Amino acid sequence: MTAAGGGAPWWRSAVIYQIYVRSFADADGDGLGDLQGVRARLEHVRDLGADAIWLNPFYPSPQADAGYDVADYRDVDPRFGTLADADAMIAEAHALGLRVIVDLVPNHTSDQHAWFQAALAAPPGSRERARYLFREGRGAAGDDPPNNWSSNFGGGAWTRVTEADGSPGQWYLHLFAPEQPDLDWTNPEVHEEFESILRFWLDRGVDGFRIDVAHGLAKDPGMPDLDADGGFAAGGPARPGHPHWDQDEVHEVYRAWRRLTDTYPGERTFVGEVWVATPAQLARYLRPDELHTAFNFGFLLARWDAGAMRVAIDDSIQELAKVGAPPTWVLSNHDVTRHVTRFGGGDVGLRRARAAALLMLALPGGAYVYQGEELGLPEVRDLPDELRQDPTFARTGGAQKGRDGCRVPIPWSGDAPSFGFGPDGAWLPQPADWAALTVDQQVGDPSSMLSLYREALRIRREHPALGDGTMTWLPSSPTVLAFRREPGFVGAVNLGTDPAPRPEATAGLPVLLASGPLPDDGTLPGDTAVWYDGRR
Ligand code: GLC
Repeated sequence: MTAAGGGAPWWRSAVIYQIYVRSFADADGDGLGDLQGVRARLEHVRDLGADAIWLNPFYPSPQADAGYDVADYRDVDPRFGTLADADAMIAEAHALGLRVIVDLVPNHTSDQHAWFQAALAAPPGSRERARYLFREGRGAAGDDPPNNWSSNFGGGAWTRVTEADGSPGQWYLHLFAPEQPDLDWTNPEVHEEFESILRFWLDRGVDGFRIDVAHGLAKDPGMPDLDADGGFAAGGPARPGHPHWDQDEVHEVYRAWRRLTDTYPGERTFVGEVWVATPAQLARYLRPDELHTAFNFGFLLARWDAGAMRVAIDDSIQELAKVGAPPTWVLSNHDVTRHVTRFGGGDVGLRRARAAALLMLALPGGAYVYQGEELGLPEVRDLPDELRQDPTFARTGGAQKGRDGCRVPIPWSGDAPSFGFGPDGAWLPQPADWAALTVDQQVGDPSSMLSLYREALRIRREHPALGDGTMTWLPSSPTVLAFRREPGFVGAVNLGTDPAPRPEATAGLPVLLASGPLPDDGTLPGDTAVWYDGRR
């Protein structure tokens, strides 16, 4: 299974469909998606035309952060199924021509992980505590946290433990929820454990790993306070010099992992979740002996504006080219507001989302599609607070609503919730008007978002210019981005609201696909993208 049209590795061009397991399909009727549900619906992904799936964590977990608090890296949570289900899912995906990427969470474990339980039971200074970041508190009685770092989910990043004799004890670091203690990556035992976990899943046949918080593993050993004057405000971007993001030592971890995966046949791959401030920082993770690819959050964060998008695209392409890595493009995932809503919501948001999909899928490199974006799902804004599960909601006292609104189970069929998601409800309520957005409703409708994605991915597979490669910008009016890819492809997108003149280079070219209706008057309507057959 290599990419069409030559010997380039598959991951340089892949379209990877993100399956948020708990919200994809529920086979056992507990309201939570599961691996049997994934198996039953894999044909949807095949029919969409994706190359691979990435599954969010399905390991045993108390679910304090929707599975990103892993209690056992070598098993499946009973809520999601069994190891046998995982094996069957991998085999069935492969039989359908889909590669499988699983999620690896190396920055922290669950507080219920055997290692952390052992650390709590052991005294300060023990081997058990040395796997995590336990420190003495500040102040005479150690009552103050070791420094001023804060949790990504709100509140402080340190929690104090009670020692075995009942006295108030050390503090441990958690850059996320208190139920997610950070591991100490200066400890060789931690390295050995994760290499063994990688082997466990590689031996089961997975094609790669998505690395959670890949920029967070190493911390400045001095653990200095975050200095607001230096620009390192809590939750701020991972600028160079930040004491707990993007420290140089992380690169040695990925070099070791790359050496390991390279011993396996079949082009196994890594995609890093690397939230850093600049594409230049990102490129360092993608040097030839490190990770293969990383999510492109600069593109995801770019406004719907020709200038902003062009900068995001150019910066990624230029910086990644220096290390020989392909860019990837992503519009949505389980952590961000769905892009239909980000781009304005309603009809405008939908029109822009259609155009954005054609832009993303025509750019050089790979792309990610988050489940439900192929249906044009919006963010669900009005979830009842008592049903919200994202720890961000509780830890900010409700000031931040959190990420549940992009995690609502997706609609498959029927005219009432749970819309075929499962036999007995869904863990988050689906809006009633999603009846119009089900897969069944969209599949036979040539004007639907689903049909647009299917057609775009079909053309992308067949067209020799799409996927990995290069692009050249073409002259256009200010709100339009137009580009050529060889051999024989021209793309144009108008990110303005008003019609703009069509780029000259598109004159007379046959249309391969358009995100919306095209008038005969030679203009390109606002919020519209077009793919042209540019064979000269
Ligand atoms: C990543 C995940 C997010 C999770 C966090 C902590 O950002 O994508 O969902 O909450 O890491 O593991």
